Amino acid sequence: MNTSSKVTTNITMHYNRTVQYFIASGGITTILCIFIVYQPLTESFLEDSSCMCNCAIDSEGDKWFYQRYRPTTHVLLNSKNSALDFNTYSWWRALQGESTVTNYTKVVEVLFSLFPDKNHFSNASPSRCRTCAVVGNSGNLIRSHYGALVDSNDFIIRMNEGPTKGFERDVGSKTTHRIIYPESAVDMDDATHLVLLPFKILDLQWIISAFTTKHIDMTYMYVRPTVKADMNKVMIIHPAFMKYVYESWLDKRGFYSSTGFISIMFALHICDEVNVFGFGPTRDGAWHHYFDDLVVDSNGGPHDGEFERKLIAELHQKQRIMMYKGF
Ligand SMILES: *[C@@H]1O[C@H](CO)[C@@H](O)[C@H](O)[C@H]1NC(C)=O
Repeated sequence: MNTSSKVTTNITMHYNRTVQYFIASGGITTILCIFIVYQPLTESFLEDSSCMCNCAIDSEGDKWFYQRYRPTTHVLLNSKNSALDFNTYSWWRALQGESTVTNYTKVVEVLFSLFPDKNHFSNASPSRCRTCAVVGNSGNLIRSHYGALVDSNDFIIRMNEGPTKGFERDVGSKTTHRIIYPESAVDMDDATHLVLLPFKILDLQWIISAFTTKHIDMTYMYVRPTVKADMNKVMIIHPAFMKYVYESWLDKRGFYSSTGFISIMFALHICDEVNVFGFGPTRDGAWHHYFDDLVVDSNGGPHDGEFERKLIAELHQKQRIMMYKGF
């Protein structure tokens, strides 16, 4: 973006904010926002930004959202932010009942001697418009023809085994980030960031092992001793982020967030516009993956699926995310 368009953006944003401040209704705000933002547009502004982005991060007075959303929370782990307070450490290690004596600090040291030690995604600004697609694994993607729409986003976040090969028309073909844990790990191509969702210190040891000695093949079940992925693109979700999502958003329902819900939260914190695909049941109320016929118990396991679905619906209704319901 050149300097003149940046100035335009800033003035517009400021005006936009001031006006929004006096308007309580979300619907009217949106209409005004479209009007105000698009009125003084230059062409370069149009290329770089969109109302959806600016409205989504700037509509103030949305008490419900800001009671829950903490933009300063650490999303990804690095060597400088890795210290965990006692409560976070205890909560995190209890998730899967890990009881072995392991020196977390020491494991983190090794972790960031191998993988990128960065302050990821610290470049948010009102003029940035990063669009993200979060693609869940629901059967409602079948015959959706969402593929091109998914692929048009800057980031495309998938989870666990969710494949693209053979399903491109409905789920897209690109994957920039794939969120996995040892028990759900799959190979990924060189363009994809492996994003580890760690539930225990052993998971951190596993990712180290997977790229070095390959000796860890057992957690509470058999896990792949190695995984194909670009080592320079590995990212690790911060345990404090998992606790924040559980407490601030899930109100401590269930035992911890599902991978799907945490993926949406991940996107809400690193993107300016979040488009969500492949969540929820099919139109017939069936719960299965788009890639197999296995019926999924949406309320089973350690998650409160119903509460998560309500939150997702609310985020959509408040225009913080855009839900594509599928078929
Ligand atoms: C854990 O490892 C760190 C860094 O290697 C070290 O400074 C610390 O003393 C160790 N803690 C314990 C309890 O062994």
